[in-house]
Amino acid sequence: MPERTASVRSHAKINLDLRVLHKRTDGYHELRTVFQTISLSDTIDIRYRRAPRTRITMDGNVDIPDNLIVRAAQNVMDAARITAEVSFRLDKRIPMGAGLGGGSSNAAAVLLALPTLAGAKLPMTQLVNLGTALGSDVPFFLHGGTALGIGRGTELYPLAEVSASHGLLVAPRIHVSTADAYRDLNRSAVETRLTTSSPGSDTESFRALVWSLGKSRQPGDWKVLCTNDFENVVFERHPALQSIKRQLGKLGASPALMTGSGSALFGLFDSRDSAARALLKLSRQHRDDCLISKMAFLNERRYRQLWRRQLARHITSNDLWPPQSRYSKP
Ligand code: C5P
Repeated sequence: MPERTASVRSHAKINLDLRVLHKRTDGYHELRTVFQTISLSDTIDIRYRRAPRTRITMDGNVDIPDNLIVRAAQNVMDAARITAEVSFRLDKRIPMGAGLGGGSSNAAAVLLALPTLAGAKLPMTQLVNLGTALGSDVPFFLHGGTALGIGRGTELYPLAEVSASHGLLVAPRIHVSTADAYRDLNRSAVETRLTTSSPGSDTESFRALVWSLGKSRQPGDWKVLCTNDFENVVFERHPALQSIKRQLGKLGASPALMTGSGSALFGLFDSRDSAARALLKLSRQHRDDCLISKMAFLNERRYRQLWRRQLARHITSNDLWPPQSRYSKP
């Protein structure tokens, strides 16, 4: 079999809202969150060739120990019961340890691309299971767009498209470990509402936010309700992040919020002009300590189109793509 190649985009996400309710018996935390894919992306070049033994190699502009790309590839090969030589080249642009889901997105990209390159039909339920084993954010990237995440963040429901094209992303050169952020949250639980037994975060305002998101196509209605429960504990460790949030707010962003467990922050603006002014001002001030860029939301329809386009050469039959769902044919 000849070598097959693909070059795929692996997009970042932000959390438009993130509530941590309580610690569960499996050690994870119960979440209520709204995920959104954004324009910022990494590129992964994949080369695939059937071979008597599996060999997976990884190269790129960053060195990531225990890379999720390699683990995802191994899991796909095992699930599809095939052996092959697979090589990856990662061009990383999504800052790491920033709450932008870059590693999870890379893993999901491999789960989506590799079965198609191999001509293997892995149903969506199986990809979701493989993704869940790799990380809590991975299943979201199998779908993209705007989604409600509950449980560990792996139980997902699609939400109506949110339009907010004038966004800014500010990623300070600070690496926040998600596990540490959860630990800090638990440590602060004694003084706050977070307990191991009862949901404490304000789910009523989360419900109001999701209703408002469902009814509105503009950020105006829901933006005042956006919250991230990690902000307090992460800002305590990294006060610089709080001052960037304040700055974004003063420059007209609403919401101005941290994503995931940080360290990146985002701001949504009413107009192109106000976003451009904020970009200029923040870029001058944070030239050396932050990566600042414009960002737009990537909706589910465009996410699906993108994936079909980037795998088109290898979609040799209708049941190879999209990954089949047990309940509906997308
Ligand atoms: O699932 P993932 O590998 O992304 O999780 C990273 C860390 O965050 C783990 O240590 C896990 O315990 C914690 N986590 C959590 N509750 C979640 C998601 C992640 O406690 N819902």
